[in-house]
Amino acid sequence: MDKISYGRQFIDDEDIKLVIEALKSDSITQGEYVPLFEKLLSEYTGARYAVCVSSGTAALHIIYHALGLGKEDELITTPNTFAATSNACLYLGGKPKFADISLDDFLIDLNYIEKLINKNTKIIVPVHYAGLTCNMEEIKNIADKYNLYVVEDACHSIGSFYKGSRTGSLKYSNAAVFSFHPVKHITTAEGGAILLQDESLYKKCIALRSHGIVRENFQKTPTSPTYHEMQILGYNYRMTDLQAALGISQLKKLDGFIKRRHEIVEVYNSAFKDMNIKTQKIYDDRINSQHLFPVLFESKTIRDKVYYYLKENNIFTQVHYIPVTCHPYYEQLGYSYKDTPKAYEFYERELSLPIYPSLTDSQLEFVIDNIKKALAS
Ligand SMILES: Cc1ncc(COP(=O)(O)O)c(C=O)c1O
Repeated sequence: MDKISYGRQFIDDEDIKLVIEALKSDSITQGEYVPLFEKLLSEYTGARYAVCVSSGTAALHIIYHALGLGKEDELITTPNTFAATSNACLYLGGKPKFADISLDDFLIDLNYIEKLINKNTKIIVPVHYAGLTCNMEEIKNIADKYNLYVVEDACHSIGSFYKGSRTGSLKYSNAAVFSFHPVKHITTAEGGAILLQDESLYKKCIALRSHGIVRENFQKTPTSPTYHEMQILGYNYRMTDLQAALGISQLKKLDGFIKRRHEIVEVYNSAFKDMNIKTQKIYDDRINSQHLFPVLFESKTIRDKVYYYLKENNIFTQVHYIPVTCHPYYEQLGYSYKDTPKAYEFYERELSLPIYPSLTDSQLEFVIDNIKKALAS
């Protein structure tokens, strides 16, 4: 059996053809493909604007910056995420606060959010872990009550639905952020995007993406046709046209990818129905786009046993996530696993099982078989 991992990209001849076409065009960056990918992303999600950038991390950094997060400001998120969600707050001198999670849906528990709010709180960042949207209506109610912004870290959840709206439609938030890293639903190798509704935020993000140089905003009178100037301090977070070409081609396949992910989930769910394996809660008002298939075993000992057994059989699972508060860097800042005990328990018992569009039925059967053997061993 070939190596099976928890996730991987799906690239076909159509993708390769479009990237080659982009490679042959006049501008391989700042050309036609990025604006087209942005248009398609905004059509797909229903957001007015999309701003493509070099990674999901860059997208988070830019949107926090555009919302004015700075020194002394606080942001509330979940510890059950990739460190980028809160790192981008640290880049700006802000202070991330972590609300514990629910061991049923594995998402930020709203009961903890309000307790963390104070006069410095500026943004709430729900993470739609594994592809399941958080309770956005309630999060928006809390944000409105305290006059806070909401940025959805939707790096796991392109294509998911909440109360009939796609992630990125921004019905309950100021912005949403996608990642196009190869393990995600669609890839541009590296890449990300910010979805926005508000024009002034959009203009700020465009400026921050490219050194704060915007031709339309020249403050001084151009002295020559080559004149340029920067108005604010920005970054080089641009996506290339080669990446955007890949994204355009991948986006066409997204709904098909999600369909296959759902088929895989059904097989797992029916295999685990009478076993001591806990899966993520299912909500009637949401469709999980299943970036991951996370399960909880009874204990760390059992989880580790399954992990090693699968590894021996060429099946490479992963744990998502070590709570952000447990990274040595965060510990040095004064955070501790004790801040969020449920996220720590989750970390000890969780395993993300293989799920990706090219995972075959026989590979899936092989994975399930080996989990059963591991538990019986
Ligand atoms: C929840 C979450 N947020 C942010 C990121 C950062 O995205 P990128 O790797 O594209 O910088 C990731 C990527 O793994 C993620 O899973």
